Amino acid sequence: MATIPTYIEDIGAHVGQEVTVSGWLYGQRSSGKLKFLIIRDGTGLLQGVLFEKDIDSKTFELCDRLTRESSLRVTGTVRVDERAPGGFELGIRSMEVIQIAEEYPITPKEHGTAFLMDHRHLWLRSSKQHAVLRVRDEIIRACRDFFAERGFILIDAPIFTPAAVEGTTTLFETDYFGDKAYLTQSGQLYNEAAAMAFGRVYCFGPTFRAEKAKTRRHLTEFWMVEPEMAFYDLNDTMDLAEDFIIFIVSRVLKNRSQELVTLDRDPTILQKVVKPFPRISYDEAVKVLQEHGEEFTWGQDFGAPEETLLSERFDRPVMVHRYPLECKAFYMKTDPQDDRLALCLDVLAPEGYGEIIGGGQREDDLKELQKKIDQHQLPREPFQWYLDLRRYGSVPHAGFGLGIERTVAWICGRPHVRETIPFPRLLSRVYP
Ligand code: 4AD
Ligand code: MG
Repeated sequence: MATIPTYIEDIGAHVGQEVTVSGWLYGQRSSGKLKFLIIRDGTGLLQGVLFEKDIDSKTFELCDRLTRESSLRVTGTVRVDERAPGGFELGIRSMEVIQIAEEYPITPKEHGTAFLMDHRHLWLRSSKQHAVLRVRDEIIRACRDFFAERGFILIDAPIFTPAAVEGTTTLFETDYFGDKAYLTQSGQLYNEAAAMAFGRVYCFGPTFRAEKAKTRRHLTEFWMVEPEMAFYDLNDTMDLAEDFIIFIVSRVLKNRSQELVTLDRDPTILQKVVKPFPRISYDEAVKVLQEHGEEFTWGQDFGAPEETLLSERFDRPVMVHRYPLECKAFYMKTDPQDDRLALCLDVLAPEGYGEIIGGGQREDDLKELQKKIDQHQLPREPFQWYLDLRRYGSVPHAGFGLGIERTVAWICGRPHVRETIPFPRLLSRVYP
């Protein structure tokens, strides 16, 4: 009988057939004439059973030498077994060992964070980390589908840039053939050029900030998806951000429910993420903070404690709009109703996760923008091309950026962003 190579996630389609599975040993136990091998192949776990009388003695004894993470290929018949992980088991008829692994450093006992982070290249194989990264993959696909379905064009922004977008204090500087260049903090400025060329666009890539902060939500390298739309105002942008988040959460609930179980993440919390999201102004948010006894002065940006206090009052993301101009980036459009305020928005995730989106309407007037560049003490020269966008057919436009890692942390209910990216880059870590 010919055997069919298969992945564990597809094994249910082969009940009664002989299949071959290639993977790694996750665990094993034996009881007399039976040996059970738990095999993982990256798509799931499978229980393989070896019955002494059905298999040659060499193979049966080889099982005792197999160590955790040894690589192997097994062939056998698929059976339904409700008690086995995944609901199926494989009656193993033959086994090929590819490598017997050295003693695996990650064991079921508790390890400290530093140890796990030093072994991130192996930690990825653990069930919780595995689940987080599968949710991340789903979220990234949902982002791309959301914009593609709505006619947005992907226009990626460069990584090497001549200027700051989000303030000069978090720039990573590099030598660019004798000149200075910076790693991008956000693709937004290029996105604005693209929006004037294509109408509705998005960029999606890694962004970099020399964050000196050691917090559970700051990475120095993180991924951001940024839509930018010509002829959109702040309200249109809030509507889009709301639809976007709902789309992402529903996709995870639909396609990654098993991973949420692995992560002990209660799906009923995520099911509450429906329209409408509360929309409160910065002024209203400050009142809430003061009512709760926070000593907060008008004009500052919110930090983690303020965001936590605000977002914990709601069971879904909250949109905070119209922050003071003084605490936001140079490109923000002034609110025509109140010239102290910017037409901007932040979306704060519930349960204390805090800001996952920042964005708003852009300054589209040439003179105003020049003034803002000066007020922020930015050099004029690297922004000439950006000012051109206000010279040749300037229109109202807006957009936002969603941080992938913070979104994954919130949806997965993980305490720290370091678990939400395959190889995190932090203030004190560039290894492995
Ligand atoms: O609020 P930010 O700084 O906004 C911008 O960069 C805009 N230029 C985007 C735009 O309008 N096109 O960053 C956007 C999001 C934050 O809400 C947060 O989710 C994430 O990026 N973010 C970080 N994530 C992890 N580590 C960091 N150090 C982050 N800084 C920002
Ligand atoms: Mg922000």
